[in-house]
Amino acid sequence: METPHNVLDHRSPKQSIAALVAISKNGTIGKDGELPWRLSSDLRRFKKITMGGVLVMGRKTYDSIGRPLPGRTTIVMTRDPTWRCEGVQSAGNPEDAISIAGNRPTFIVGGAEIYRQLLPLCDQVFLTRVLTEIEGDTHLELDLCNFEVVKQQDHPPTDRDEYPTEFIEYRRKKRS
Ligand SMILES: NC(=O)c1ccc[n+]([C@@H]2O[C@H](COP(=O)([O-])OP(=O)(O)OC[C@H]3O[C@@H](n4cnc5c(N)ncnc54)[C@H](OP(=O)(O)O)[C@@H]3O)[C@@H](O)[C@H]2O)c1
Repeated sequence: METPHNVLDHRSPKQSIAALVAISKNGTIGKDGELPWRLSSDLRRFKKITMGGVLVMGRKTYDSIGRPLPGRTTIVMTRDPTWRCEGVQSAGNPEDAISIAGNRPTFIVGGAEIYRQLLPLCDQVFLTRVLTEIEGDTHLELDLCNFEVVKQQDHPPTDRDEYPTEFIEYRRKKRS
């Protein structure tokens, strides 16, 4: 699905928008509505990066988390105008999600449907490469040719991580 061109018009000039994605070598990001791995270190990093900001997520990802995450504002994208959840704001389209986030640091946190539509708006991508091939039902083709690597770190698994990971921080190349 294409991101509507006018979404950029809804963006505040001071708004930073970043995506956080964890993806296996074969492009899997989800299975049965959940994450297909146990990676405590990555969850800690997610918390550290997003704390104090605004999370934009799809309704299915919100269902899998099941509650607003503390210390952050949660915006859930849904096409169901009757959808309500305490402590959460809903947005019926990408333009509304970006407008509601306003000047606050904004993090696009999935799932696949939301990444596909909102990645074109992101200035930064925090990518966790999960260094294994894993089966799942939610996949993503990530085209990061408009981004450059600014940081890269290998993370051997701790006893609370199922797989080794590589953490890569990307910044968008200047828009032409
Ligand atoms: N590995 C990772 O980094 C990562 C991160 C996040 C999630 N995940 C995984 O990804 C899977 C879920 O991904 P998914 O792609 O199936 O679902 P999703 O992107 O989380 O949510 C899809 C839902 O978002 C809403 N939506 C999508 N586009 C919209 C639009 N333009 N306007 C308004 N609402 C819109 C719709 O909700 P309604 O149906 O309510 O209308 C749609 O059904 C889960 O397994 C989850 O664990 C992985």
